[in-house]
Amino acid sequence: MGKVIAISNHKGGVGKTTSAINIGAGLALKGKKVLLIDLDPQANMTQSLGLNEPDTGIYEYLKGEQSISSVKIQKNLFLIPSTSGLGGAELELASEAGREFILKELLEEEKEKYDYVFIDCPPSLGLLTINAFTAAQEIYIPMQAQFLALQGIGKLLGLVDKIKKRLNPQLEITGIFITQFDRRKVLNRYVMDTLESHFGDKVFATRIRNNVALAEAPNEGCDIFSYQKSSNGAFDYGQLVKEIIKRNAS
Ligand SMILES: Nc1ncnc2c1ncn2[C@@H]1O[C@H](COP(=O)(O)OP(=O)(O)O)[C@@H](O)[C@H]1O
Ligand SMILES: [Mg+2]
Repeated sequence: MGKVIAISNHKGGVGKTTSAINIGAGLALKGKKVLLIDLDPQANMTQSLGLNEPDTGIYEYLKGEQSISSVKIQKNLFLIPSTSGLGGAELELASEAGREFILKELLEEEKEKYDYVFIDCPPSLGLLTINAFTAAQEIYIPMQAQFLALQGIGKLLGLVDKIKKRLNPQLEITGIFITQFDRRKVLNRYVMDTLESHFGDKVFATRIRNNVALAEAPNEGCDIFSYQKSSNGAFDYGQLVKEIIKRNAS
């Protein structure tokens, strides 16, 4: 119960938000109770799920200004949105005692209400991401199958090592998956091979293909299963969700 998974990659545009929403929605459709947390000041997840400038969100809860609560998106799917204050949170929280543990503490009881909690991380490795890695048991890393996608990943792995040593011994990278996959590109294959040789069975077999419906769904404020059930995007995220359920069952 209450497995907390951070979805992170400090590169922007790799599919973190798209994946958090659609993995969450897919699991919710399978009867799992899911909480999504938008920890990115850009609030893409919040907007993509149709919330427009909510009054309270993760910033207010991190600051201790309000007690934690979530918004129901649909059956089994809940969101803690990002609000405008989150942009200044890294600076504001920097001087707090135990500043790395604020999110962990906040979720201690809350997470038990859910089967899964997914944290959509910002595209940086600052205090918000450190809070996510301290609160989480697992990290998923979405990646584009491009040459440069692998560059810089060492930085992320280095941070994960430090957090594991100093703050959260149970933390593991448990899932790496390819997004925006285009089978016509030879480089895709090369990147897959490199990832598999580095990360072995942590790499999910499912690759999320390039699919315009995935980019359109946020305009309608919904996930891919509600937007277009017959799309490749819905099929691929459906497959990924099956893999996630299977891994967590064994
Ligand atoms: N598989 C995909 N096919 C087509 N467009 C995608 C796909 N995944 C993500 N996108 C689009 O690419 C952009 C970046 O994705 P996003 O999930 O916001 O990345 P991140 O959260 O890592 O910055 C968004 O406009 C999104 O709609
Ligand atoms: Mg994002």
